Amino acid sequence: MELVETVQELNNALRNHRHGVIGFVPTMGYLHEGHLSLVRKAKKECDFIVMSIFVNPLQFGQNEDLSRYPRDLERDFDLARKAGVQVLYHPSVKEMYPSEPLVTTKVSESISNVLCGKYRESHFDGVTTVCAKLFHQIKPDRVYFGQKDAQQLAIISQMVEDLSFQLTVVSCETVREEDGLALSSRNVYLSEEERKQAVILSQALQDVRIGLESRKWHNTDEINNYVRDKITTMPLAEIQYIEILTYPDLKAPTSLYNKQILIALAVFFGKTRLIDNILFPTE
Ligand code: PAJ
Repeated sequence: MELVETVQELNNALRNHRHGVIGFVPTMGYLHEGHLSLVRKAKKECDFIVMSIFVNPLQFGQNEDLSRYPRDLERDFDLARKAGVQVLYHPSVKEMYPSEPLVTTKVSESISNVLCGKYRESHFDGVTTVCAKLFHQIKPDRVYFGQKDAQQLAIISQMVEDLSFQLTVVSCETVREEDGLALSSRNVYLSEEERKQAVILSQALQDVRIGLESRKWHNTDEINNYVRDKITTMPLAEIQYIEILTYPDLKAPTSLYNKQILIALAVFFGKTRLIDNILFPTE
């Protein structure tokens, strides 16, 4: 596996691989099984795998965790190599943004002013801007994104369509700990007690799924109240949102059973903000 840090080095590393299918997995590093599952899926479908590790300042708000975002390039290098990444692209902030960008992408409020976007102003403008740049730099055929960040996946797919990127967005299932907690680089922030209580998120979503399968729920309020009551049994949980929307267009559903729906939540445990979701039906 080759580690490259500049666009020039990236071009050199990819020059002889353009004839095959290039798969790309964008990340912010501190890799875990969730990231690596994207690589594994890409390996099955592509000839050459590029991963990026870049903690993108443009997508962090002023009071967010940019400076304390966990980083460990050495460990990431080993994990990426073992998973089968061939080029690991780790640009500096200066390489990605030599000067403050004056032209960026703007996501319509109709899809950015719900779920996480409602609480993270301009977050998705930052995500789409960096992904557009990475897509131009790498020119992949297939890009891999996790359903764990369902709004991100929906918005990136929309951007690819609206801005005519010649690539396919592949969505990948959420990877979980044995007890159900969705893997996240941010899980390392949790205290032992917070970690124990955080299991309630996936448990509540699992109950919702079972209820949907048996047509138990009649409307979104019922689901919302159920999830809220269940999560608030954990004293350290502070709910930011529970939302039920159609997927991928992110609109209020008229029925629970017509279209695919997303049941998503964001919950604080102390300072740590965790997100999780399910899609119903799954595909
Ligand atoms: P990051 O949070 O590092 O996530 C990188 C990719 O891994 C995303 O597509 C995310 O959905 C996926 N992922 C994270 N946890 C997962 C899990 N438990 N199961 C499956 N997939 C999981 O998302 C970002 O970085 C950034 O916003 C980025 C797209 C790189 C742009 O900066």
